[in-house]
Amino acid sequence: MCGIIGYSGYRACLHVLLEGLEKLEYRGYDSAGVAVLAAEGIQARKAQGRLSALEKLLETSPLPAADCGIGHTRWATHGAPSDRNSHPHCTPHLAVVHNGIVENYAALRTELKRQGVEFITETDTEVLAQLLESCYQRTGEPLAALQAMAARVEGSYGLAVLFCDRPGQVYLARRHSPLIVGYGEKECFVASDIPALLPYTKEYAVLDEEEMALLDHGRVEVYDPQGRPVEKEHLTAQLPAQAADKGSWPHFMLKEIFEQPQVLQDTLSTYVADDLPNLAPALPDKLLQNLGTVHLVGCGTAMHACMVGKTAIESLARVPAQVEVASEFRYRDPILLPGDLVVTVSQSGETSDTLAALQLAKERGIPTLAIVNVPGSSLARAADMVLYTQAGPEIAVASTKAYSVQLAVLYLIAIRMAWARKALPDARCRQLTRALCAIPAMQQPLLGKAEEMKMAAQALQNASDLFFVGRGMDYSLSLEGSLKLKEISYIHSEAYAAGELKHGTISLVTDGTPIVALATQSAVYEKTLSNVKEARARGARVLLLCSQNAPVPDALADEVVRLPQCEELLTPLLTILPLQLLAYYASVLRGCDVDRPRNLAKSVTVE
Ligand code: F6R
Repeated sequence: MCGIIGYSGYRACLHVLLEGLEKLEYRGYDSAGVAVLAAEGIQARKAQGRLSALEKLLETSPLPAADCGIGHTRWATHGAPSDRNSHPHCTPHLAVVHNGIVENYAALRTELKRQGVEFITETDTEVLAQLLESCYQRTGEPLAALQAMAARVEGSYGLAVLFCDRPGQVYLARRHSPLIVGYGEKECFVASDIPALLPYTKEYAVLDEEEMALLDHGRVEVYDPQGRPVEKEHLTAQLPAQAADKGSWPHFMLKEIFEQPQVLQDTLSTYVADDLPNLAPALPDKLLQNLGTVHLVGCGTAMHACMVGKTAIESLARVPAQVEVASEFRYRDPILLPGDLVVTVSQSGETSDTLAALQLAKERGIPTLAIVNVPGSSLARAADMVLYTQAGPEIAVASTKAYSVQLAVLYLIAIRMAWARKALPDARCRQLTRALCAIPAMQQPLLGKAEEMKMAAQALQNASDLFFVGRGMDYSLSLEGSLKLKEISYIHSEAYAAGELKHGTISLVTDGTPIVALATQSAVYEKTLSNVKEARARGARVLLLCSQNAPVPDALADEVVRLPQCEELLTPLLTILPLQLLAYYASVLRGCDVDRPRNLAKSVTVE
């Protein structure tokens, strides 16, 4: 979603701002803007569309040289994407870039209008800027103005502000929307996300809730909500600067699909010792031994990972597990009992609904575990326990490698749970762990099927609708395969539990309707084939994914993709690769913007 960059230092800041915005492009946006504080005062340029539109504008309407400035990529919430609605929003004394949502903006707008303020947009951010302007006119001091503003605002904000009479300085404030300050030599930075800082520094600190900060060349001062100075812990980003670069790959998504064996290996080697999952101290055995129900909560792809996690936990440890869509969980007054565990799963660690679900569990006194990819993210900081996935930065909007490592951690939890509770013999737990560690090597040859998947994508690229079907874990994978295809190729598809198709939806299957059938689980293999035959009899065009040795009757499928034989419970880590490749090639063949599909954002920080 929206991205923030800010700079105070000795460089010509515009270059830093544009480079930072480029690194934030992956979050998804529909307009971009910058403002600098120069001798002439604050000047801003903003443009709807891609960053290139802003760069073009800057050529015809250049900004003066300046040593401090702020920049923003906007993903529209209040008010359509347009030049005018883009950030920064400027008032007589300041310019603001804002991530988040002002919930009481309508009431504040009415109040400010009564005081004579004229608004030129429908945005909540303009209200925030005007409120801050009025607080600044009253207090005459930036931090006092930010404090006064905070007292009036309901909602979330990550803010970077230039005040026209504070040369060289950028002011910051955070509530429920992440801001990271970066430390350099005689310069400092702010960003909503670490990749934007990496070209300049690896040293950073994360602002905590309600904190404010001042950037002034090499000086960073952080304050608590009462305005008292706070000492921040300096952290070092472990990512190489090029970790967020595409290199010679045509798209980030393809790069990230191909990174899966490596990141899976990295994640497993972090958490496996002596042929067993080693999750302590983050997740102690004592907790696993005394569990009631495990609630697995996430959104989108992360929620689909939870579905596989549920199957693994229930079948290995025989502990009841429930999968919860975070945006539903938070409002449905869930039954959470002593002994339960809430596990939140998220790549970004910033997903608003998942964070709220975690908060709800904490309020009810239920222990919380976060499985998260971004160190220092809001979810990681809020959870009682954290297990980090080791996917590295995931830039493509469609999640691929993060899903695989989420599965890996969920499998490790399930195996450790089974071991700690003696639900399975020690030897079986070690065997399963070894089988899991063997998966990265099995993924490699599957990636060699890229050409095969490209041809499969050619066969369905002109379809208007298609189905993904499977039973059990294959149903969970169907949901993920379908989501991936929809979000990046814009082909409508539905995922069905294979046995459900005949209860209504099979009426949509006609001559040539494509069906992607997943049949990797031997216990339900024949049942799934029967359902495929039912669709085939109505003219469906079938792409079947099954294991190496599965017997496939003649004329059942138009194409068959064979997966290497592995421990069956772990097959999702293999099945997912052809599904991701299928979606990728369908998107490429249809000429879509693979890495930045329309309307989508990488990190969904609004409800
Ligand atoms: C789909 C996708 C989304 C995310 C979802 C949760 O490809 O990326 O469905 O999985 O928005 O995001 P995180 O994992 O950051 O909480």
